[in-house]
Amino acid sequence: MRIGNGELRLVDDVAVSFAELVAQTASQNVNPPTTIALSGGDTARSCYEELARTDGIDWAEVELFVGDERCVPPDDEDANQRMIRRALVDKVGATFHPMDCDRPELYNELVGELGSFDLVHLGLGPDGHTASLFPGSAGLDSTPGELVVRNVDPSGHNPHERLTLTFEAISRSRLVVFTVSGASKHEALQKVIEGDDLPAARVRASEVVWLCDREALGEDT
Ligand code: 6PG
Repeated sequence: MRIGNGELRLVDDVAVSFAELVAQTASQNVNPPTTIALSGGDTARSCYEELARTDGIDWAEVELFVGDERCVPPDDEDANQRMIRRALVDKVGATFHPMDCDRPELYNELVGELGSFDLVHLGLGPDGHTASLFPGSAGLDSTPGELVVRNVDPSGHNPHERLTLTFEAISRSRLVVFTVSGASKHEALQKVIEGDDLPAARVRASEVVWLCDREALGEDT
C-alpha cells in the first residue's frame, strides 16, 4: 500500500521484519561498509535485540550511526547510545559512531563526509515526530547544508535537549525504514496516511518503507 512518502507494509512483527530488511540490505551491498543510522525508543530497542540475533550479517562490514540523541551523559538511562550499545553493539561488535551533544559540528562533518547512509531507521512518536524532529520545533526548518542540529520539543512532552539528523541528512539515505508498532501509534499513523503535515510525513529518501503491525494500523486482529 502506498503512503504519502513511501510504501506501507503490514507485518506481524516489526522487529523481525526490520532485521530481515537490514540483513537483505547488507547482503546486497556491493560497496561495503553498510552504513546504518539507528533510532531511539522502545520499538527500536526490540528491533536491535532481534537484529543482534540475526544470522548472515558480516558486522565487520557494517558501520552504525545514530539518527538522534538525547543530550544526557552516555551512560544515562535515557541515552540512545546506551540502549544501542546494550541491545546491539556490545553483542555484535560493529563500528559505532555515537553523537556528542557538546560537539554537534563533529557529527555534521561525519555525515557530510559519508555523503549518504545505506539505511536510516526511524520511529514514529504519538505526536508524529521522528528522530528528534518534533512538531513545531526549530529543527524542522534547518538551513541548507545543516545535517545535524540541536533541537527541543516545544511541547515539553519529549524530554531533554537533542541532537538530530535534519530532513536533508535523512533524505540522503538510500533506504529509510520506519517501524511502527502498537495501538498507541494508530492515531499518528492514520494522520500520516491521510496526508497530515507531521514531521514523519515530511521524510523523503530514495526509498521509504513503513513496517507497521496490525495494532498500529488498527486492523481488526
Ligand atoms: C528518540 C527516538 C524517537 C522514537 C519515537 C518512537 O530518541 O526518542 O528517536 O524518534 O523513535 O519516539 O519511540 P517508541 O518506539 O519508544 O514509541
